[in-house]
Order: sequence, then structure tokens, then C-alpha cells
Amino acid sequence: MSSHLERVQEELRKRNEQALKGGGEERIKKQHAAGKLTARERIDLLLDKDSFVEMDRLRVHSCTDFDMDKKRIPGDAVVTGHGKVNGRPVAVFSQDFTVFGGTLSRVFAQKVCKVMDMALRSGMPVVGLNDSGGARIQEGVDSLGGYADIFLRNTLASGVVPQISCILGPCAGGAVYSPALTDFILMSESTSYMFITGPEVIHAVTREEVTKEALGGADTHNAVSGVAHFKGLDDRDVLEETRKLLSYLPQSNRDKPPPQTPKDIADRDVEGIEDIIPDDLRKPYDMAAIIRRTVDEGSFFEVHKFWAKNIVVGFARINGEVVGIVANQPMHLAGCLDINASVKAGRFVRFLDAFNIPIITFVDVPGFLPGTQQEYGGIIRHGAKLLYAFCEATVPKITIITRRGYGGAYDVMSSKHIRGDFNYAYPTAEIAVMGSEGAVRILYGRDLAAIEDEEDREERKQELVDEYEEKFGNPFKAAELGFIDELLQFKDTRRRIIGSLGLLRSKKAGNPWKKHGNIPL
Ligand code: HXC
Repeated sequence: MSSHLERVQEELRKRNEQALKGGGEERIKKQHAAGKLTARERIDLLLDKDSFVEMDRLRVHSCTDFDMDKKRIPGDAVVTGHGKVNGRPVAVFSQDFTVFGGTLSRVFAQKVCKVMDMALRSGMPVVGLNDSGGARIQEGVDSLGGYADIFLRNTLASGVVPQISCILGPCAGGAVYSPALTDFILMSESTSYMFITGPEVIHAVTREEVTKEALGGADTHNAVSGVAHFKGLDDRDVLEETRKLLSYLPQSNRDKPPPQTPKDIADRDVEGIEDIIPDDLRKPYDMAAIIRRTVDEGSFFEVHKFWAKNIVVGFARINGEVVGIVANQPMHLAGCLDINASVKAGRFVRFLDAFNIPIITFVDVPGFLPGTQQEYGGIIRHGAKLLYAFCEATVPKITIITRRGYGGAYDVMSSKHIRGDFNYAYPTAEIAVMGSEGAVRILYGRDLAAIEDEEDREERKQELVDEYEEKFGNPFKAAELGFIDELLQFKDTRRRIIGSLGLLRSKKAGNPWKKHGNIPL
């Protein structure tokens, strides 16, 4: 006769075994055949070895309709708990597609909410691994209520702890809104998709033919919609990228990102920037090359790489300290700000500000992108988002104007006027209301039109352009007015940023009390 304890231990062993098998061998095989890992395999890859501590492993769903009471699997369709990434705690939930298609039941939602509440209380990031058929049909509106409970927590946790969503399978309907409320979305190529309404519904309503991949695959959301920030070849790749992303983030808004022992020389000259920036203002160059040469070697980690390429955003380390980079990219749309670039950079600036990460802004902006598409699309309100984000940000802000700082876009790009702490410009900078050609056209258009001979007209126009450039085609006016703190020699870039960051370590700045602002959404 076994003791009570032995019987309990035996029962525990059985339940644990059942929970670890999820939906069973067949479904695990199917999962692997689809090129996907299981919920638990994913957790193992995400977290440091043997660091996972599972919670609620034995919870079961409470549904009795559709004979569901006869189908109960310990843990239900989500694995939850906490573990470590690079030695620091994170909360994690991993949807288990092998159990009822990873669908969300009331109990599933409660498990997710529990780890989110824990993360919020303790101050640690939340990583969600998504692979689900959405609302569990058998549970009806109970499931919808569960989603809403999660949405509420996503919103309350926003700006308090970093939230990351990995999309590793289906994510459809209202279920997309939990990832959408989080800070970063990573998608796996060929196995993941996100959409509100799928291809069949779209076809029924609009007769439009579209595949799942074209509608909501990793490429679409990384390059077209901007919904996702990263993509990886497969689960493994996405989870590795997630670990890397976490290494740049603080645990919560009460912390700063962890500094690393510097792996690069603090005092080194930055070589070759003068060779990157062309003399001819109309010629493009790669701003990312300037960023890479300035920051600690190999530390630049670009975010949203495939969308709105006319602005570059990402994390980097400078002398071991994490910074956020925002930079116009002259290689695309001449570096103009447009709707997507404004939204992309605006959201990133707000993330940096919420999580105490200094912002380094590199500026080469000819202005906002002209055109009816932009105006009708609301460039006024979207451009205002970036302006708003830079204005309200109180983290250290360092700005370097590499070439053009024109018009309203000059103001927007972390200028002195909106609380830039240190604003530098290279000798190649031009800070003006607009470029010389445009200015001459507006100021002297009528006079020039009155000159009948075309050659004379061109000659006079060139004189006026030269005159304008002599006056405004340089950084001196802005430096005379104190809008630029220093005209910086290219080679001093890194030294000066490190020095400025040091001075700003004890920066204190705030905003007037408010319930919250009203960013032009
Ligand atoms: C209950 C579901 C389910 C669901 C899938 N399953 N979706 N069970 N509720 N919503 C079950 C299947 O019956 C199957 O069970 C198992 O999960 C795997 O599904 P398969 O269809 O065999 O897998 P696959 O061929 O890979 O297709 C996956 C899928 C498809 C594309 C996700 O299952 C599908 O289209 N499901 C319906 C998706 C959907 O419409 N969801 C509601 C979205 S609206 P067995 O026992 O056979 O293994 C929504 C609202 C959220 O979610 C609201 C938030 C506010």
C-alpha cells in the first residue's frame, strides 16, 4: 500500500508528463512538419539554459460545451512562466498550437494575465510567442473577454516594461491587437502571418484575390505595412534576434539599459566621414555608414529596417552605454520626411524616452516629401507625431547635422529649439529655410521670368543661387545664433558624443503635469 504522499507524487508525475506532451506526438509531428517548433522548444531557445520556471502548468480549461469537459490537457494551450535572458529575468508566454490550435480560452487568458501582472509588479520585460487559431470557438464570448483582459494589461504595461511579440504561426482577427499594443513585433518568414480578415473573407467581400503570405506574411508587415519591426528565417532565428533585442533594453522604466564593458576605444578618431558626405548636395550617401563608424564597433542594431527606409532607427552602444539612433537616410527619397518615416521615428523616440535611453539624431533632411499622396494621407498630422515625440522627450538628446537641415524638418529633427541638449553640425552642414534653387525660384521667379534671353536668364539665376548659397549654404548663421553649440570636426564625432553623454548622465528635465498629452494620432 503506497502512502498518500507517494500517490500524490505519482499523480503529479502523470500530470506533468501529460502537460509536457501538449497536444500529443501526432500534433507535435505536424507542428515540426510545418517548419515550426513547439511552445516549449521555443521557450528553451529564448531563455538562458535551464532558467525557465513554469507557472500554472496544471491549469485546465473550464469549458463544458461541445464535450470539451472530456478534452482537458494540463496547462491548456499556453505555456507561461519566467526565466532569464542574458542573465536578466523576463516573463514569457508561449502559445501551444498542438493544444486546440493554440486557441485562447478563459483559462489561457488568465494564465497570460498572471505573468503580465507579475512582470509589471516586479519590473521585467514580457515576451509573447504567438501561434494560435485565435478565439476558442467553443468558449464563445468568454474568449473575447479573455482577449480584452490581455489588451488592457498590454496597455497598462506600455511604457512601464518592454513588451515584445514574436509571431511564429497564425495570428488573426482581433488577436492581432495584443501584439500591436506591444513595443516590438518579430515575425518568422514563411510560417507566420497576421491579418484582421483572412483571404477568404476578403474575397467574399471585395472579390480581391490574395494569398495569406502576400496579405500578412513577414515580408508584407516588415516592408509594406510597418506592423512588424523584425523578421527572421525561422523560429530559431526570430528567438535569437529577440535575445539580442532584449540586450539593449532596460528591465523597466525604473531602470536604464545595462551598460557593457566597452569593446571599442572611447577616444578614437572617426575616420572617413568627410569622404562619405559628397560635396554635391543632390548626391546621396549612406547615413548608416556614418552611424556604424561612430558607435562601438558592431553594436548598431537596426529596428524597422525594411520599412520607411528614408529614416534609420535603431539601438547602438557608445562606450558600452546603450543609445537610440534616429537618422535621415539620403539614400531613400533624398532623406525627406514622409508619413511613414514620421510614424516610424515618432514611435521609436517615444519608446526611447519611456525607457531612459538617450537619443542621438543624425540630420540630413531636405524637408517633408511633397505631393498630393502625402497631403491627402495626412502628412500634417503624421509629421506632427515625430515633432511631438521629440518635443516631449526628456532623455538626453544629442543632434548632429551632417548636411541639410532645411525648413520645418530642421525644427522637427531634435533641434535646439525643442530641447536638444547638445546640437552639433559638421562644416558640411547647411541650415536654412530651404535649398538654394527653391529659394531663388520663390524670391526671384518674377524677375527671372522677365529676362527674355534664356542664356541671360540662366546666368542670372546661377548668380542668385550662388549668392544664396554663400549666405545660407553653410552652418554659420545657425552657429552665430547659438542654434548649434559647436561646429564639429568629423573625426571628433565619437569623442564629443561620449563627452556629452557623460555630462547628461545627471540630466533633470520634466514636462508640465498632465493626465496624458494628446499626441496627434
Ligand atoms: C477552436 C480551433 C480553432 C478555433 C483551430 N482550431 N482554430 N479550435 N477554435 N478558433 C483547432 C482545429 O479544430 C484543430 O483541432 C487544431 O486547432 C488545428 O487546426 P487545423 O485547422 O488543423 O490547423 P491548420 O490547418 O494549420 O490551420 C490553422 C488555422 C485554422 C489557419 C488557424 O485552424 C483556422 O482557420 N482556424 C480558425 C481561425 C479563426 O477563424 N479564428 C477565429 C478568429 S477571430 P484538431 O483537434 O483537429 O487538432 C478571433 C477573434 C479574436 O480570434 C477576438 C479578439 C477580440
